[in-house]
Amino acid sequence: MNPERDRREVGVGPMPEPWPVDDRLDPALLAEGDRRNVVDRYRYWTREAIVADLDRRRHSYHVAVENWQHDFNIGTVVRNANAFLAAEVHIVGRRRWNRRGAMVTDRYQHIRHHPTAEALVAWAAAEDLPLIGIDILPDSTPIETTKLPERCMLVFGQEGPGLSDAMREACAVICSIGQFGSTRSINAGVASGIAMHTWVRQHVSFRPPPSP
Ligand SMILES: C[S@@+](CC[C@H](N)C(=O)[O-])C[C@H]1O[C@@H](n2cnc3c(N)ncnc32)[C@H](O)[C@@H]1O
Repeated sequence: MNPERDRREVGVGPMPEPWPVDDRLDPALLAEGDRRNVVDRYRYWTREAIVADLDRRRHSYHVAVENWQHDFNIGTVVRNANAFLAAEVHIVGRRRWNRRGAMVTDRYQHIRHHPTAEALVAWAAAEDLPLIGIDILPDSTPIETTKLPERCMLVFGQEGPGLSDAMREACAVICSIGQFGSTRSINAGVASGIAMHTWVRQHVSFRPPPSP
């Protein structure tokens, strides 16, 4: 335990004047400091300016998660979608979801609600986005050896039942994440992070660090 470190505030304090002239900056944050959960390059930016900047860089995959029983994992799915910059998050089923795990990242993410699996399937078809189910089922194919389409919708089920029958039938393919222990599954929040990062590793080019 390090009480000194634990008391340390996240973020930055008030910006000393004179302030830079930049309409992306929020005068209230400049005056009071910015303690939000945002990366340093967005310090003091308005929410609108951050969303506009993310919109210019979003990836071409979408994420959908079924929400029939108020699954507490949905907040983590939204947070991962923000970290790995999914185009949009689609919540299928109940409109209300537990925002706690999102850690306020939902403010920077486009979130669309669909009341039924059929409604999501129709929306994805109109956008020409194949549905890639993510679940551990007997006929799933390993995500580790599957090429994920550049434009697609990664679809996650919920604790207990996993993907609904309607959603399974609509998926072009269902991918499983390899497991090695005794548990039947990992939670949907963790699975979403692995699947999104798999898409990122396949479609985003990473520069190796310069050699020392
Ligand atoms: C707890 S699991 C669902 C239960 C699972 N179908 C079973 O038979 O026990 C909840 C969701 O997490 C995701 N998930 C969990 N483990 C996974 C894995 N190993 N591979 C792919 N998806 C997984 C899927 O989206 C799944 O629908």
